[in-house]
Amino acid sequence: MEVENKIIYNRFNHWNDLIIEDQELVKRAYAICENAYAPYSKFHVGAAVRLGSGELVTGSNQENIAYPSGLCAERVALFYVGANFPSEIVDTICIVAKGDLLPQEKILSPCGACRQVMLETETRQKKAYRVILVSQNGVTIIFKSAEDLLPLAFGLSE
Ligand code: THU
Repeated sequence: MEVENKIIYNRFNHWNDLIIEDQELVKRAYAICENAYAPYSKFHVGAAVRLGSGELVTGSNQENIAYPSGLCAERVALFYVGANFPSEIVDTICIVAKGDLLPQEKILSPCGACRQVMLETETRQKKAYRVILVSQNGVTIIFKSAEDLLPLAFGLSE
């Protein structure tokens, strides 16, 4: 039996076309990008999370000379939420990047480890949250759920 697993997401030509609250999240993600510590990759990533309370939490990638010791921006932000707002719900996360590692038109799409963490945040809070991904030239895609980025994930039954 062949099974189809479709993912539906929204695409915008530029993040200027998003609703104001989402534009604010993109701007905050770009702002925190400036605090990335990325002397090795020179790729600056920013993540901004809107909590259910409306509060915004941000994170940027933090690298280390012992390469695997660094951490991606979205995990920095989500682990900060877990540490400081354990009873809060994540409503939306936005991830952006600046640097030559990716062509301008490529959407910043989270690495596999981040997807696993993003999914666990969702299963832990028992509520889907939106994921906004942006390319350096502004193209934006929005997923309704972190699970859309990791179908058939470890720990999830079909
Ligand atoms: N990085 C992130 O922060 N988030 C991603 O989704 C992809 C990659 C970071 C890790 C490393 O510091 C740099 O970008 C280059 O891979």
